[in-house]
Order: sequence, then C-alpha cells, then structure tokens
Amino acid sequence: MVERIQDVAHLGAVELLTPKPEGTLWFFHDLFGMEIVHRDGGTHYLRGYGDHAAATLKITPAKAAGIGCVAWRATSPEALERRVAAIEAEGLGLGWSNGDFGRGRSYRFRDPDGHAMEIYYEEVRYAPPPELRSTLKNLPQKFTGRGVNVRRMDHLALFCKSVPENRRFAQETLGMRLSEQVIFNQGRDEIGAWLSPSPVHHQVAYVADAAGVHGRLHHVSLWVDNRGDVMRAADILAENGVFIEAGPSKHNNSQGFYLYSYEPGGNRVEVYSGSYLIFAPDWQTVVWNEQERGTGVYWGATLPASFASYGTPVVEAQKSNATVIDPM
Ligand SMILES: [Fe+2]
Repeated sequence: MVERIQDVAHLGAVELLTPKPEGTLWFFHDLFGMEIVHRDGGTHYLRGYGDHAAATLKITPAKAAGIGCVAWRATSPEALERRVAAIEAEGLGLGWSNGDFGRGRSYRFRDPDGHAMEIYYEEVRYAPPPELRSTLKNLPQKFTGRGVNVRRMDHLALFCKSVPENRRFAQETLGMRLSEQVIFNQGRDEIGAWLSPSPVHHQVAYVADAAGVHGRLHHVSLWVDNRGDVMRAADILAENGVFIEAGPSKHNNSQGFYLYSYEPGGNRVEVYSGSYLIFAPDWQTVVWNEQERGTGVYWGATLPASFASYGTPVVEAQKSNATVIDPM
C-alpha cells in the first residue's frame, strides 16, 4: 500500500458567487442561522456556530451564480510548501497571495477542471463579540437557535468534465482518501468520486457534468447534528418560500440524510446529517455500479431529473454545444 500523503487537514472555506447577494445573504443569515463576521464592499464572510475558523463561507456578488474559490487548510507550514510544490509540478499553480479574510499566506491554484482553489496554513481562530460568546467553553460561538442554525461547513460537490482526472488530482496531488466511487459500464465510466482529507466521509465530490462544460458547482453542504434538524430545515425553507428540490431522504452512497434547495442566487445548497466517519488507514473504496447505485436514494422519493443536470452557473444548453454564462 502506498502511504497516503496527509498534508491537507480539512476544507477551510467556500466562496459562492451570486447575482442576488441580498437574497443569498438573507438565506444564509436569516434562514440558515449563520453569522456575518466581516464585510468588504458587497462581499460578506459568514460562519456556522461550530466553525472554529473566523469565516467558512464567502458570498461574492457576481453576474451569475457559481463557485468562487475553495480553500483547503494544510496540516503545517511544511505541509503547505510540499503541496504547493506538488501542485506546481502539475502545472496548475497560480501563485501566492497574503490571504483572504481570516487566513494567512495562501497559494492559489486550479483543479484540472478549472475550479479555483487555495491552500493555506495560517488561520485566524474565531473570537466572538460579547453578545455571541457561548457559556460553553469549548463552543466557539453561542448557539443562537436562529433558523436552521447550521453547525458547520461540511462539503461541496463539483461538476466536472472528467471525473478520473480530477479524482486523481485530489488523491495523488492533494492526498485525499477516496471514500466511494460510482463507476458504470463494467468499470469503464467513472461518473462520481467522493473524497476527503479527514475522517469526514467526503469534503469534495466530483461528479460528471452532463452538459460537458468545465468549472460548475453542483452543491455546497452545511451540517446539522441530526435528522430531525434536517426535517426542521424543510419546514423553515417551505415557510419562507424557498424551492426544495429533493429530500429529506437518505442517499445510499455516503449514507447522507439530505435536503436540497436553491438559495435565491440559484446555487444548490444542502442541509446534511447522518453519513459516517472513516478512520481506517487501509480503507477500501466502496465502488457502486449501475444496479447497486440505482437512483442514488436508499429510501425516500426518487431524485428529480434536475439533480443530475442543474448546476451553477446555469448553462444555456446541454451537451456538446453548451455554453457557460460567465460567472464574474
Ligand atoms: Fe452533499
């Protein structure tokens, strides 16, 4: 067995692009219960009450919805240098910056599909203002009980043109564990890969984009502690006129208990719980074929057709003649 590189600690932060920043902010602050910790012009930085970092979600105004930068935290300054060297060797590096809000020196790169990413080590730990100080010493921020009240950023799923290419990059260059895969046509077509640098089942999933374009987001996912919280989230979103695309139901792969909705800017957002943790260093990737994968649902309603095709930015047409709306 090849020893797995363990230079990436966890998913640090996700930047969402939105053409409706006020609506997106309302969704994550008022409905999801996240706190706004910093503003920079029209850009807002938010966090869940259990996130230890200063900010885990950045909301950036843009012409179209989509994914901005996905930031990964390295396990040490030395690990950061090692991963940067590996990324540069792949020809995917873009260069150093002094870091976004809450982060130190950061190295920008792209995954093979073109999604913008960053890796960093130095991070500002969240220090709450008096009104958000928890009475529980090991909780970084008060449990406010506002709306869905998500605990933390959990993972994201990225559409891509080539799952094998991006899966290999995440595994071999970033050092992530391949938790599960979906491979059709007797092992010939790899259409999904679920990867993580930590015991969390997956922090990034790569899924084949039927539109045949690059750089899209499938969804970003925030964690709540139990299935009841997911169902309560469905009530809250329905009461506020938010479109619920699927769930609450349970996936077969990942065992995730999910609720998918679209925030006002158009990005698909998941409220997530359940799933399972992986601790084994010799984990054997679980591979699903067509029959085993089925609809991707263990129990509950079948996922709608939009779940396989809708992503952000929205494409004008599907298949080979698809064009992507410029997200910036
Ligand atoms: Fe998910």
